[in-house]
Amino acid sequence: MASKGKSRWAETEEDAELAARQKREKEEKKRMKAEKARRQQEALEAQKAKEATAATQEDGDDGRPVKRRRLSPEASATNGTGEAASNTAPKLLRFNGGGFGKCRSVENYDKLNDIEEGAYGWVARAKELATGKIVALKRLKIDPKDRSGLPVTGLREIQILRDCDHRNVVKLKEVVVGEDTRKIENIFLALEFVEHDLKSILEDMPEPFLASEVKTLLLQLASGVSYLHDHWILHRDLKTSNLLLNNRGQLKIADFGMARYVGDPPPPKLTQLVVTLWYRAPELLLGASRYGAAIDMWSIGCIFGELLTREPLLQGKNEVDELGLIFDLCGVPNEDSWPGFRRLPNARSLRLPSGKDARTAGSAIRVRFPLLTTAGVSLLNGLLALDPEKRPTAKEMLAHEYFRQDPKPKQEAMFPTFPSKAGQERRRRRETPNAPMRGGAAEIGAVDFSGIFTGREREEKGGGFALRMV
Ligand SMILES: Nc1ncnc2c1ncn2[C@@H]1O[C@H](COP(=O)(O)OP(=O)(O)OP(=O)(O)O)[C@@H](O)[C@H]1O
Ligand SMILES: [Mg+2]
Repeated sequence: MASKGKSRWAETEEDAELAARQKREKEEKKRMKAEKARRQQEALEAQKAKEATAATQEDGDDGRPVKRRRLSPEASATNGTGEAASNTAPKLLRFNGGGFGKCRSVENYDKLNDIEEGAYGWVARAKELATGKIVALKRLKIDPKDRSGLPVTGLREIQILRDCDHRNVVKLKEVVVGEDTRKIENIFLALEFVEHDLKSILEDMPEPFLASEVKTLLLQLASGVSYLHDHWILHRDLKTSNLLLNNRGQLKIADFGMARYVGDPPPPKLTQLVVTLWYRAPELLLGASRYGAAIDMWSIGCIFGELLTREPLLQGKNEVDELGLIFDLCGVPNEDSWPGFRRLPNARSLRLPSGKDARTAGSAIRVRFPLLTTAGVSLLNGLLALDPEKRPTAKEMLAHEYFRQDPKPKQEAMFPTFPSKAGQERRRRRETPNAPMRGGAAEIGAVDFSGIFTGREREEKGGGFALRMV
């Protein structure tokens, strides 16, 4: 046997000393960082206290400000009744307009590991130094082509997350800023940390979700979306990577980078460049600039399909391909099934199947999901209705028969747990498409879909038996 000579990789005393020194330096750095954050916090609190005392000193003993801007015209000392004018002078209504405060520094957090590092986005797991609480820090996205200011999408993301309070919507704890506040990219959202996103779970799980689990997830998704729509918020980028799941089986809707408030009726000119291609509703692909909550319901339909098969449902390579896949699965539209669709900008020059081909051009959802119950197919068919008016609202979805039938939705607490990828070092590079960036919408132009159903009949009948279309 070879002599037991010391390997050249073995640790020497020098190595050990170096490691100890590095450890000491790291600890010292950490201590300094915590000390700095503490001092900043103290200064901030002192400043706030100073402002508060200044404000109370300005007020009189009766709580009213001593100096007040007079808004009414100068009145004479007495009025007609001889009473002192000050007794009848119109009172100023005072509203609490909230206040602006300085954001805390990102130095109050210690980064633990990256969760996601994409072309523009960055999300990391971090620990708040003062409390030890774990959060997800998300850097606010900026438009790389336009660095002139905070993009409206970022402002909306902050505003909407601050306004939302629902168990199925991710919570924003605070907005923090980096040292150099002149750098626009130094703005971070500190979000409640959620262990998984549905996309990562679906990619890694050996078996698909059980029907009872799919129901629980869909109910939570519909409940969150119903809350958003009730509060006039369109999410506009629902997809499995934007749905988080914690270890207690609770689903949280995240990523409000595309979301916005809308009124009723919605504004006449909304951008069509919303929703990641595979989850984008046909009216958007056909160029509608007036759309509503139904675009989110279409995305929920796509998510439903994905939960059942673990594969995104409609993986188009571009807008035209996506439309082709939609028509292939959901049937082609006509004036009966979708009144007025021909008036949409990109629909005018479409060539669709006619004659015998058009008759076989109905929905193929039943065939694609042979194991789904009739109630399940009816819900999926409804969510993936080409005509947005025919899709159920989130509230209607919550009341759907599918959720009342056996197997019943599984209790959240009984949900299986999964190893958390977000809790470890992770740099993902997905091949799936991203949410669209600002810019011009794709022109679809004159596309010929008239042959897309040729051969479908043969496919469905197969070798000597026919699938029953119920
Ligand atoms: N609160 C959170 N807790 C844990 N992980 C999170 C949280 N928020 C986001 N993530 C993870 O980071 C990923 C990206 O987050 P998000 O979608 O908000 O950012 P994004 O930059 O808009 O990303 P993308 O462009 O890929 O949609 C999510 O898919 C999820 O895996
Ligand atoms: Mg996202």
